[in-house]
Parts: sequence; C-alpha cells; structure tokens
Amino acid sequence: MIKTVEWTKEGVRLLDQRLLPNEEKYVTLYSHEEVAEAIKNMTVRGAPAIGVAAAMGLALGASQSVGTSVADLEFDFEYMCEVMAATRPTAVNLFWAIERMRGVVEKAKAEKVRDVEELKTRLVNETLAIFQEDIDSNRAIGRYGAELINDDSTVLTHCNAGALATAGDYGTALGVIRGAIDAGKRVAVIADETRPFLQGARLTAWELSKDNIPVTVITDNMAGHVMKQGKVDCVIVGADRIAANGDAANKIGTYMVAVLAKQHNIPFYVAAPISTVDLSTATGEDIPIEERDRREVTHMLDHQLTPEGVNVHNFAFDVTPNEFIAAIITDRGVARAPYNESLRTLATSRSAHAP
Ligand code: MRU
Repeated sequence: MIKTVEWTKEGVRLLDQRLLPNEEKYVTLYSHEEVAEAIKNMTVRGAPAIGVAAAMGLALGASQSVGTSVADLEFDFEYMCEVMAATRPTAVNLFWAIERMRGVVEKAKAEKVRDVEELKTRLVNETLAIFQEDIDSNRAIGRYGAELINDDSTVLTHCNAGALATAGDYGTALGVIRGAIDAGKRVAVIADETRPFLQGARLTAWELSKDNIPVTVITDNMAGHVMKQGKVDCVIVGADRIAANGDAANKIGTYMVAVLAKQHNIPFYVAAPISTVDLSTATGEDIPIEERDRREVTHMLDHQLTPEGVNVHNFAFDVTPNEFIAAIITDRGVARAPYNESLRTLATSRSAHAP
C-alpha cells in the first residue's frame, strides 16, 4: 500500500509528492508548523490527504504543548487550528478535519476532563480514526462506483485523485477504477497531465503503473481529440469541495473536461467522500478558489518558460456546474440530480452501506 501520510511516534511521515515519480522519499515532520508548510508547498496534496495530514499536525502540536491544564492546551490548540486553516482555502476536507479535532476538545470539556495528557491521547486517537475512516470510505466509493463502469472501459481522469490524494490504498476517482478492476472488469486509464503541477503525468501515472493498471498520459489539450476519436467511455474525477447543489470544485481544467464530455455524450462522474460535500456552501459561486505562486506557471523546474515579467494567472481549481455531472459517487451511495436533495439525504444518513 502507498503510504501517503502516516502517524509515527516521532512525527507525521509524508511521501514527498513534489519529487515523484523520480524519487520515492519520505519526510518526517516534527511540528504542526512543518505540517502546515508541507500542505502549502504540496509535499502532501489532494483534499482527503490534506485533511488527514492537518489532523495529524494538530495532534502533534497538541502533544508538544507545555500547558499544564486543559484550558492551556485549548488555547494553544486554537492557535494551531488557525495556522492549519490558513494553508489552502479550497479543499473543504481541511476545515472538516479541523472541526473534527475541535470537537474532541469540546467533548473533553463537556465531560470535565482535567487530565491534559488524556486530552492529548484523545486527539491522537481521533487522527487515527480519521485516517482509517478515509481508507474505508474510499473502499466504499470503489464498490459503489464499480457498478457504473462497464467491462473493457477506458476512463479519462484529471489530476490525481488516487492513493496519493488520500490516506493511501485506493483513492477516490482511482478508487472507482480499482473497485471495478477488483470486481473483475478490465479498465484502462487516460490521464491528463494536469498543468502546471503535473499531478496526472507524475502522480496518477506513477501509482497506476505501480499497480499494473494500464495508463496512457496525454497533454491537457488532447482531451477533446481523444474523446472525438471514441477512445473515452467515461470521465471520473475527484473533488475538493462539492456545494449543496452539486457544483464541484476540482483541479483547474476539470470544467473544460466536463464541457468536452457533454459535447461527446460521455458520462462525467465525480467521486468523493461525504466529507467533501459542504452543505453550508449553497453553490459553486461561493467556493473560494486558491491562486498559487506565478512561478508554477512561468517555470518548469528551474527552467523559465515565459518572457520575464509577463502577466500570468495561476488558479488552482475551477468549478464544474452540476448540470455537467452524471452522478456523484460517495462513500454513502451514488447521488444523482437533483443534487440538492440527493446530497442532503446522503450527508445526513448515518453511515456507509456499501454493497
Ligand atoms: O492541488 P491539489 O493537487 O491538492 O488538487 C487535488 C485535486 O484537485 C484532486 O482532484 C482533489 O483534491 C480530489 S483528491 C481525492
């Protein structure tokens, strides 16, 4: 199993995704600030993986607090939550994980826990639960999604929504592909390279090759051509935040793929755990879109591609309106339009009942 993020006694261990596919190097982070920086600089990336790493960063920071009372620890912990929340704005799993960790502190206070060490232990246990739930929910997404994939299919995906974007193991969009393969179907993948960070070319191609799943990389601007040639049976992508009406934010370029899929009558699916559904965000218009450093666009490694000083945009995400989405595959079942109803029903149902 690919170990994207791991809790160890020493600190939070991450597979450094900036170096893949050329180097498989693990780094251990020894403070909550180091974990926050790793989320910002994309050592770890992908909405669920960011959530798991943030929770572990908070447990790590709390375990290092020198406060002697629960009130002292809470004071330090709140500050750490703010540091973590300021890392990346779009993936709602980050804020979901922070709220889960805050809930542990609130519960301890309500139960009048006085032993600061007990609260620290509870915070570590919560991160381990979040980690395991992520693995389990991706397996459930895989089982639900497998039913939508025909035998002998080719699936186009954008960015990396695989083991590397989650706690490890299956992933979300790639979880559906793995689920279909585990159900005995033959599936091949076309991976968009995904400019500018190249999550498709570097990460999706790396993890699928490792699992011997057939993968072909294309540049982003080839997607229309391969669809027109009849080479794509469906599109499956992940999501960073899904609004209550089903509008879905995902890696920049996803919207373009959805429009192309509609033009070619190809089903376009979004796969994400229920923690990615944000019922408090009414539509995609309300989803904050991260803008990243211009250097990601102007340079390829140390090589400058654009004229000195030229204006660039570096929007990290876009929003696909719900009318382009054939279904949203979650760990609690498959939602279809009208999403306002179907997503609310799944989000408020108690737990997964995967087939
Ligand atoms: O900028 P990134 O690499 O964190 O963006 C990742 C994506 O857009 C993924 O598709 C999304 O987080 C879903 S991951 C299961």
